[in-house]
Amino acid sequence: MKSGYQGFEAKWHDLFWEAEEAPSEVPLLEKFLEAREGKSLYVGSGSGRLLGPLVQSGHEVAGLEISSEMVALSREKYPDAEVIEGSLQEHDEGRYGSVLIPAFTFQLFEDPQRQLQRLREMTDHLYLTLFFPWAELSGDLPRNAWYFDRKITLPSGEIGELETRHRIKEQTGSLIRKHRYTSKDVTGKIIRREETEQRLRFFTDVALKNLLKKTGWQIEKEINNLGDGDEDDLVYVATLYLKGV
Ligand SMILES: C[S@@+](CC[C@H](N)C(=O)[O-])C[C@H]1O[C@@H](n2cnc3c(N)ncnc32)[C@H](O)[C@@H]1O
Repeated sequence: MKSGYQGFEAKWHDLFWEAEEAPSEVPLLEKFLEAREGKSLYVGSGSGRLLGPLVQSGHEVAGLEISSEMVALSREKYPDAEVIEGSLQEHDEGRYGSVLIPAFTFQLFEDPQRQLQRLREMTDHLYLTLFFPWAELSGDLPRNAWYFDRKITLPSGEIGELETRHRIKEQTGSLIRKHRYTSKDVTGKIIRREETEQRLRFFTDVALKNLLKKTGWQIEKEINNLGDGDEDDLVYVATLYLKGV
């Protein structure tokens, strides 16, 4: 089994995002950056999908990314966007005007409290987007069974398929997700299959607010579901503009 964000998971990352048709996070990131000064560090900048457009529109942002394959994709597609190869846990390079952690990268960290404390030492302004696994918790998606997730047509005409299987550890608030990536030729014959596993922490509203309070962060602004949908909708995705206290 491959570790995260390598192989098909890296190569097909942006195509799967496009296939999902979710609203882009770029406008929320831009709004946050416009009102804050100084250089920004984007943790988990991946293939440059969001970093590239931010740099292209003139924001002073550097990426920090742990997967060498994602770093290579980003540098190839957006050569003007600076990317540091490394992890947040080992990054020790002074202070930033702000730190950005969009998508759900923060939930991949094993020690969220420790990382929020470290982030507090690095900056006074933090952008965070988190997702809450309502579909997994409510049983809308089956537990411990493979299900079809998404499918893309690759530039070569081959098919890329993603299946997912998850389990939940309620005590620790963890979602353990396996991904199975399969490439198939035009006749449907399997060419190659790869599996990855990731553990995501999730937080109830109360738990998150406690965590932020304990680590010296206060919420300046909260945006639900990337600004899409109605006020009464379940909050699947929460974006927070945080300020140090
Ligand atoms: C969910 S993806 C999001 C990628 C990108 N932000 C986007 O929205 O397209 C998470 C990314 O964070 C990276 N990552 C995970 N843990 C990290 C860490 N501790 N430090 C730096 N990058 C990390 C992964 O390699 C991956 O590229």
